[in-house]
Amino acid sequence: MASAGEKWSAGAAAYDNRVAQVTGDGSEALIKLVDKIKPFDNDSKVFEAGAGTGATTELLRRQNESMTIVAGDPAAGMLEQLKKRDLQNVNILLIEATEDHVASGLEAGSFSHVLSNFVLQFVVPRAQIAVNEMFNLLKPGGIIGNTMWTKPSVGEPWNIACKNLDPNFEPVTSAFSDALRVPGDLERLYKASGFVDVHSEEVELWFKFKSAEDYADYFLHSLNPPFMSMQTSWKGSPEDVNEELVRVVQEQYDNGKFRMISATVVGRKP
Ligand SMILES: C[S@@+](CC[C@H](N)C(=O)[O-])C[C@H]1O[C@@H](n2cnc3c(N)ncnc32)[C@H](O)[C@@H]1O
Repeated sequence: MASAGEKWSAGAAAYDNRVAQVTGDGSEALIKLVDKIKPFDNDSKVFEAGAGTGATTELLRRQNESMTIVAGDPAAGMLEQLKKRDLQNVNILLIEATEDHVASGLEAGSFSHVLSNFVLQFVVPRAQIAVNEMFNLLKPGGIIGNTMWTKPSVGEPWNIACKNLDPNFEPVTSAFSDALRVPGDLERLYKASGFVDVHSEEVELWFKFKSAEDYADYFLHSLNPPFMSMQTSWKGSPEDVNEELVRVVQEQYDNGKFRMISATVVGRKP
């Protein structure tokens, strides 16, 4: 079975082209909320888990030109895209969020902020281990901030189209994780690691494609892991669904515009 790194690497360029726009909007909300609680300054040391193609990393660099940023991700292909952003003084590390970060060269208790943007839902069922690693990296008083999808509506047309074609169709419900559905699910993981002052804010984000055809092309051909996982629910060739998928998106999603809800969940290490 392909590793997380291999799966995410396969669709990295298409991801950066089509998805980083909406995840970047999520990053803005994340950085704004975290900065209110513990402002980023020249002495800040930030670890970003699952940095991907760098949507958040770039905004962090713009937020403060001097602070230390370490961007980790297990997908070499995603990190190749990040490098193309040519960000100054960003340390890049090939690492899974569940790995022992100290064994990989990071210092425990040395970071002021640990962040990740739309990552933990893809780390389930090991998300608690990832949150524990984040706790271990932070200094006392350090801040954790994660975003997660609470309404990932971008996957809905596939299930609608498949059901229209086959009334017995059974969707895969775990593509964006069953275990982390609402902010309270992640808040519980934070508290179990030892974080305090845990709270969440939800924001509305728009995921926009050029057209319904552009959406269907991305859904079917980009190798984006959650979309690949959803496609396993269809018994025949996913191409059989293309036409109906386009029709559903034209009629029900304004030709490729998706209202998504994301939650930013923050906490403090005592
Ligand atoms: C939806 S993308 C988000 C990327 C980036 N943070 C953004 O906001 O655009 C999910 C990212 O999580 C990474 N990922 C998947 N499994 C992971 C794991 N076990 N540990 C760390 N990152 C992981 C993927 O490689 C991918 O870059």
